Amino acid sequence: MTPPSTLRRRRHGARGAAAVAVLTLAVTAAVAVPAQAAGSTLKDAAADRGRYFGVAIAANKLSDSTYSTIANREFNSVTAENEMKLDATEPSQNQFNFTNGDRIVDWALANGKTVRGHTLAWHSQQPGWMQNMSGTALRAAMLNHVTQVATHYRGKIHSWDVVNEAFADGSSGARRDSNLQRTGDDWIEAAFRAARAADPGAKLCYNDYNTDNWNWEKTQAVYSMVRDFKARGVPIDCVGLQSHFNSGSPYPSNYRTTLSSFAALGVDVQITELDIEGSGQTQAETYAKVVADCLAVTRCTGITVWGLRDSDSWRSSGTPLLFDSQGNKKAAYNAVLDTLNGGVTPTPTQNPTPTQNPTPTQNPTPTQNPTPTQNPTPTQNPNPGGACSATLTVSSSWPGGYQGNVTVTAGSSGISGWRVTLPGGVSTNNVWNGQVSGSVVTNAPYNGSLGSGQSTSFGFIGQGNAPSGGTLTCS
Ligand code: XIL
Repeated sequence: MTPPSTLRRRRHGARGAAAVAVLTLAVTAAVAVPAQAAGSTLKDAAADRGRYFGVAIAANKLSDSTYSTIANREFNSVTAENEMKLDATEPSQNQFNFTNGDRIVDWALANGKTVRGHTLAWHSQQPGWMQNMSGTALRAAMLNHVTQVATHYRGKIHSWDVVNEAFADGSSGARRDSNLQRTGDDWIEAAFRAARAADPGAKLCYNDYNTDNWNWEKTQAVYSMVRDFKARGVPIDCVGLQSHFNSGSPYPSNYRTTLSSFAALGVDVQITELDIEGSGQTQAETYAKVVADCLAVTRCTGITVWGLRDSDSWRSSGTPLLFDSQGNKKAAYNAVLDTLNGGVTPTPTQNPTPTQNPTPTQNPTPTQNPTPTQNPTPTQNPNPGGACSATLTVSSSWPGGYQGNVTVTAGSSGISGWRVTLPGGVSTNNVWNGQVSGSVVTNAPYNGSLGSGQSTSFGFIGQGNAPSGGTLTCS
C-alpha cells in the first residue's frame, strides 16, 4: 500500500506549484516528474499522509480509456463495485465464476494498486439458489462461499468486507432480519473466522452504512459488536463506514468522533463507499470535512469513493462524485486534494467567503480565538520554553462517558518522548496514539519525537463525567 519512499514527498501549497508543474510537463514531457507533481493526484497526496485513496470500479468500464486513465492516475486502491459479490462469484451453488472479479483485481495489481474485497457475506445481491436456502444448509453454504472466494483471492486482497450491512436501520439497535441472520447470531463471527483461515494476510472488515453518526443506535450497535469481537478474540481488523451522504443521511458533525471511537477499539477504520450528493461549494466543503476527519484519526487508513464520474454513480442523479460525467475534476475533487495536501480548502478562487472555511487551522485571525486552550497551534504554545505542553479538549460526551483529545506540543528544544498527566478523576484504560498507566499517558513508539513547536495528539475514552478541558502537565 505504501509507495516507495521516492514518491513520498511532502508538498505545501501544492496546487499552485502543481499547476506550474503540469504546464512544465506539457512542454517537456520526457523529463522526470518534478517533486511538486507528486501531490497533484489523490493517490500521491493521500500516500504522503499515509493513507490510500480508492475508487469503486466496474469491470466493463475498464475498456473506456477516459475512465481507466483517470482511475489509474488518481487512485491507488480499487474495489469491485459488483463483480466480487455473492451473485457474481457463485452464480450456481459451488460453481464459482471469477472472470470479472479477476479482471478488476488483475488490472489493479498490474497498475500497482491494492484491492478491497467486497463482499463475502451479505443479505443482498445473493444468487437465487442462496436466497432460497435457510438453516444449517445456508450456514454451510455461506461458509463455503467465504472460504472459496477468500482462497481464490488469497494474497491479493488488502482488506475484505467480510460481512456487509448486517444491522437494521432505525433505533432498534438490532441485527437486520435476513436468511443469514436467521441461521443464528453467530453467523458474523463464523464468517470472520472462515475468512481468516482462508486468507490470513488480509485485513478483515465489517462494513455498513448509517453508521457515521455517533449518536445513532445503529452506530452504537456496530460499535458494541466490534468491542465484543475484540474482547472475545474474533478476528476483526477493521470497520468500514460506507458513508453514502445525502439529505436523508447527512454528514454528521460528530463523524470524527465515530471514526476515532471505532479506532479506539483497536481496529482500523476505512471510509469505504464515500459519495456525497449535492454540487458546487457545499458539496466540496463536505468532502473536505470527511477527508479532514479521516486525516485526524491515525487509524483511519484510507478512503474509497463509490464510483469515478457522476455518470458512473449508483446514485447518478445526485451527482455525488469527484468527477463530472465528462471526467472533469469538480470543486469537490479540488477540495479533497487540497485537504490531503495540507488543509488548504477550497482553493482561494473558489472560496470568496473565507469565514465559511471549514478548516479551523486556516483561521486567519488566531488572536481573536476566544478559546485558546482548545487551539493546538504551536504559536499559542503556553509553555514555549518548557519541554512540552498539553491541552485537553472533550470532543463528545454521552451518559456515562466521553471522548477526550489531548494535543501535545514540544517546547523550543524539541523532545524525544512525552509524559502527560490526565486530570484528577479521569479513569480510562482506552487510549490511542499513547500508552496509559494509571493517570499518566506516555507517547506511543511512533509519536514521541517532536521538533521545536511540533504537535501530536492522543485520544481516550473516559468513564463518568467529562472533565473541563484545559492545560495538562506535560514533561
Ligand atoms: C451498489 C452498486 O453500486 C450498484 O451498481 C448495484 O446495483 C447495487 O449495489 N452498499 C454496498 C454496495 O455495500 O455494494 C452497494 O453498491 C451500495 C450500497
